[in-house]
Amino acid sequence: MRRLLIAGNWKMNMKLESAKELAQGLKEAAKDVSEVDIAICPPSLYVEPVGQVVAGSNIGLGAQNGYFEKAGAFTGELEMAMLTDVGCQYVILGHSERRHIMGESSELVNQKVRAALAAGLTPIVCVGELLSERESGVTNDVNRRQFDGSFSGVSAEDMKKCVIAYEPVWAIGTGKVATPEQAQEVHEFLRGLIADRYGQEVADVVRIQYGGSVKAGNAKELLSKPDIDGALVGGASLKVDAFMGIINAVR
Ligand code: PGA
Repeated sequence: MRRLLIAGNWKMNMKLESAKELAQGLKEAAKDVSEVDIAICPPSLYVEPVGQVVAGSNIGLGAQNGYFEKAGAFTGELEMAMLTDVGCQYVILGHSERRHIMGESSELVNQKVRAALAAGLTPIVCVGELLSERESGVTNDVNRRQFDGSFSGVSAEDMKKCVIAYEPVWAIGTGKVATPEQAQEVHEFLRGLIADRYGQEVADVVRIQYGGSVKAGNAKELLSKPDIDGALVGGASLKVDAFMGIINAVR
């Protein structure tokens, strides 16, 4: 049985005080939640102070990015070991905003995925097609390419530790959520890819989250689909009530 993982991707939002307040509010509101895994991914600068707020609670801590190289001359980057050093368990990699705004290739994402695994982090690896790609019928090709590129050289044992987030780019921050059927179709396709590349035993344990305009009102229907094992939540993770609404809807 795969445990659901509900992760908040705060993106480039909050300031120090509001970040700590949000974390404190969530910690109190979620203290009795034991049925699902919860994580929050603040901006890098606030990971450590937010981590102090949620330390010892049932809320996991993640970063939104990390670099693949070991410490050295890489101005502006963060080593994976720095993330674990301040308490991170998760790191989001290959988010569409990094792929499309920052121009990250699957090759770079792959280097980061392998570095994250080597550092003991759980990578949350995002894949997903653009609207134009969906409309031209290449959804599966795009997701297959991103999957194979991002996980190249990752062993079966390590694959089991990864989380995949299927995030159709057209559904991110747009309020245009994929239907549960559209999402399930891609999740099933992705699980089939894992089975093909790594065997069914691995495919059965890897969690595949859905992301893109998830909120309390649509979470239950999405997450009741057999291959949808959680949610990566942007906008609705920035308020205690909205995030708790999702968690409570799927407990
Ligand atoms: P959204 O973002 O929930 O605001 O659509 C999801 C994401 O990008 O992870």
